[in-house]
Amino acid sequence: MSLLLEAHSLDYRYADGSIGLDDCSLVVRRGSRNAVLGTNGSGKTTLFQHFNGLLKPSAGHLTFDGARFDTSRAGLNALRRRVGLVFQNPDRQLFSASVFEDVSFGPLNLGLDAATVRRRVTAALAAVGMAAQAERPVHHLSFGQKKRVCIAGVLAMQPELLLLDEPMAGLDAAMQDELLKVLDDLAASGITIVLSTHDVDFAYRWADHIHLLAAGRCIAAFPSAELPDRKAALQEAGQPLPAVIELHRTLAARGLLPLQPAPRSLKALLLALSSEESP
Ligand SMILES: Nc1ncnc2c1ncn2[C@@H]1O[C@H](COP(=O)(O)OP(=O)(O)O)[C@@H](O)[C@H]1O
Ligand SMILES: [Mg+2]
Repeated sequence: MSLLLEAHSLDYRYADGSIGLDDCSLVVRRGSRNAVLGTNGSGKTTLFQHFNGLLKPSAGHLTFDGARFDTSRAGLNALRRRVGLVFQNPDRQLFSASVFEDVSFGPLNLGLDAATVRRRVTAALAAVGMAAQAERPVHHLSFGQKKRVCIAGVLAMQPELLLLDEPMAGLDAAMQDELLKVLDDLAASGITIVLSTHDVDFAYRWADHIHLLAAGRCIAAFPSAELPDRKAALQEAGQPLPAVIELHRTLAARGLLPLQPAPRSLKALLLALSSEESP
């Protein structure tokens, strides 16, 4: 798979002297599902704002689709068409009266004709399960619905790379399940996704590549399947092993489950257990 996004030795310092990023490097392959995993303050939001050119590194550089970021106004506009960022807080992103208007904003700004805009907005709302809410006022929506409208707004731009900053934060279990389904469908449609999270269980369950962030630096990157063997790196990033790994190992040691395949979620583990019990 080809490299879609590359960050090379990024440094970023905030105006007050705080270190946002410190020699941070990582690569994202086209068509992959990535989780940037790190505790609060590890640099996830700072990194994502570099990925679409909102912040400029004080040292280091980025490339997208093989070309260095062009930081001219036109270059950044072109980049943001291909790289869509969903902010952590939906209220930072939504500003129109109705859902339809809000999702139309980006495509209208691209100068597309009305029919194309309508088609894109309808498809984007359908992709996030919000088609029936198109005419509703944004301020009547639940937090989870607002989140999905934000994703639709970015999808309507038809980006190649979808960035989601802590998409699960603030959602209850039911809303998380709904969003997970949306993300799974999007990933299956071939779009490259990078999301950030501080939740190791979620990262392990969802991603196929994990990038560990600690103190503004990517200290390790590996396929999720290798995560059970990365206890030391996880520890360095302040992360425990996912609960499902410990539980699965205990059950396997007692002969209740085979060692392979390793389930990635408690749900998958329960499924495996129930099929062991009733073969
Ligand atoms: N606007 C800001 N001004 C000063 N320091 C900041 C600002 N935003 C973030 N930081 C600092 O940069 C570091 C990385 O923060 P951030 O990227 O927000 O991490 P995360 O998203 O992983 O919680 C932290 O030490 C944080 O305190
Ligand atoms: Mg953050």
